[in-house]
Amino acid sequence: MRIVDTIDEVRRQVREWRAQGLTVGLVPTMGYLHEGHASLIDASHRDNDRTVVSDFVNPMQFGPTEDLESYPRDIVHDAKLVEEHGGDLIFHPDPSEMYHEGFSSFVDMTVLTEELCGLSRPVHFRGVCTVVTKLFNIVKPDRAYFGKKDAQQLAVIRHMVDDLNMDIEIIGCPIIREDDGLAKSSRNTYLNDAERKAALVLSEAVRLGMDMVRSGEKNCDTILSQMKSLIEAEPLARIDYVKMVDCATMQQIPTLDRPALCAMAVFIGKTRLIDNFFTEDVQEG
Ligand code: PAJ
Repeated sequence: MRIVDTIDEVRRQVREWRAQGLTVGLVPTMGYLHEGHASLIDASHRDNDRTVVSDFVNPMQFGPTEDLESYPRDIVHDAKLVEEHGGDLIFHPDPSEMYHEGFSSFVDMTVLTEELCGLSRPVHFRGVCTVVTKLFNIVKPDRAYFGKKDAQQLAVIRHMVDDLNMDIEIIGCPIIREDDGLAKSSRNTYLNDAERKAALVLSEAVRLGMDMVRSGEKNCDTILSQMKSLIEAEPLARIDYVKMVDCATMQQIPTLDRPALCAMAVFIGKTRLIDNFFTEDVQEG
């Protein structure tokens, strides 16, 4: 397993693999890796001859009041995890390697990015689409792996690849959770003990919503109001949004008459956490 920090080195390595007829998977991350990221690396290792993991805290996807400076970083830990899960190359660039002076080209998407997280994070998806496009152009992978934990991001990337005819297969992977249900996230490290307990309301609300869908409830307001009540009962929690949207368009729907995504963002203290479920992943009871 190698760690490189320049675009040239990534290109040289991938060109070498290509010359040997090997397939390449890409797992884009912002580092501080946990079992959620590891599951994507496992999936790529299963499907491809070689796996590249990008480890880059992308300044462009953080708003001016967000946690860019405090976002946790630990490349030594990350390197160990990538190696253990069969990754072959870590691309760990400096921001100046990705955004040279005078950088002024962006990948921007309308509609899908204007709902859910896009409402409270207006510059976020422009930053995500731009950096992911750059990573796709640098690595030129056969497949790229994204977690359903960031369900809107997954939908946005699928849409971008389709709109812009990028010849890359996008693989969505299930949410990996702690034993007590909390979705794994690099941002969970921000939580103190009381907040860590309070954060369980997200996965509890997900479970409640899934149970209601499983029992045949079709009215989205009925499902969402019960989920919101559960979250509002927790004093440390403040809802950003809890919504039911069409899986493909991210637009809100009143009735479960098509594949839907139930997504939420909730502040626990100062930390904003997200969780969700896809109705298609709810097993019939
Ligand atoms: P990051 O938050 O580091 O996440 C990298 C990938 O890991 C994303 O596809 C995310 O959905 C996935 N992931 C995170 N937690 C997960 C969990 N508990 N279960 C399953 N998958 C999980 O998402 C980003 O970075 C950035 O926006 C990025 C795509 C790298 C662009 O900068």
